[in-house]
Amino acid sequence: MKSLSDSLLETNYTAKARHGSDSMMNLTRRIKIFSKSPLSEVAKRKRSGTYQCCTQQNHNASRSLDYRELIKKHTEVTTNHLTPELQLHLITPTCPLWYTGIADCIFSDPYWAFYWPGGQALTRYLLDNGKEVADKVVADIGSGCGASAIAAAMMGAKQVLANDIDPVAALAIQMNAELNGVYPNIEISTENLIGHSKHWDFLLLGDMFYDKDISDRVLEWMDMLAGQNTKIFVGDPCRIYMLDHPIRTKLRLIAEYDLTDECKEENYGLSSGFVWEFIP
Ligand SMILES: C[S@@+](CC[C@H](N)C(=O)[O-])C[C@H]1O[C@@H](n2cnc3c(N)ncnc32)[C@H](O)[C@@H]1O
Repeated sequence: MKSLSDSLLETNYTAKARHGSDSMMNLTRRIKIFSKSPLSEVAKRKRSGTYQCCTQQNHNASRSLDYRELIKKHTEVTTNHLTPELQLHLITPTCPLWYTGIADCIFSDPYWAFYWPGGQALTRYLLDNGKEVADKVVADIGSGCGASAIAAAMMGAKQVLANDIDPVAALAIQMNAELNGVYPNIEISTENLIGHSKHWDFLLLGDMFYDKDISDRVLEWMDMLAGQNTKIFVGDPCRIYMLDHPIRTKLRLIAEYDLTDECKEENYGLSSGFVWEFIP
């Protein structure tokens, strides 16, 4: 059977650096975009309201499923990433689920189960520059595993919101926050906040520029929030949708990190994670 990792298509998530000689096998190392649900499709369905994550989709049928237990069972608590200060529940090559076919995957589109290179760089930056967020009100949108929000809380942010529209991600964020001793200091929400007028001192966006459409919507929102004095940090490994998007002209590079060997291998073609400040 095709493994979960082999059933990936990296169409939209892949970095600009693809080389003609690279085999498809190499391009499909990372569990990010499943063959039946390319991320762009999932993103569209999420936006149109037709996307349902595993929890909602199977809500009636699987009320008895204990997602906390499932997350514990199917992930490994790991520090093998750019921010070893943080312990995170992630699906790694030591987890059977890594090799499971998508049809048998208990979680639907578990982006929260991977620590994306953009998020790793952004979180590294926060841990190294804690004074930026100390005593500030911070929101991490598209929080995934919650690492950036957790780092902000660890660095003394006054208030932290970790937001992700996937309810299973919300639970994973809570579990990761507990693991790192910052729960309940973090507020967790699944509301779709993109486009809404909010006030935060800091907005954190880790790896959120994965297709043109979401990039357009996020950029418009960033313009609005920056006009309200929100400082915006973006973590991104230079994905094509960020590089080719008008947003690129509004980003000032503030840090670059060499990704770990494992992260490079899993994210074929990416070697660095970058942190940018949005300058409207
Ligand atoms: C590529 S992952 C990045 C996760 C994390 N920031 C990181 O870097 O590891 C994108 C995340 O954004 C979430 N997402 C997508 N659209 C969203 C929206 N409108 N509001 C909040 N989260 C969203 C997805 O569920 C997913 O967890």
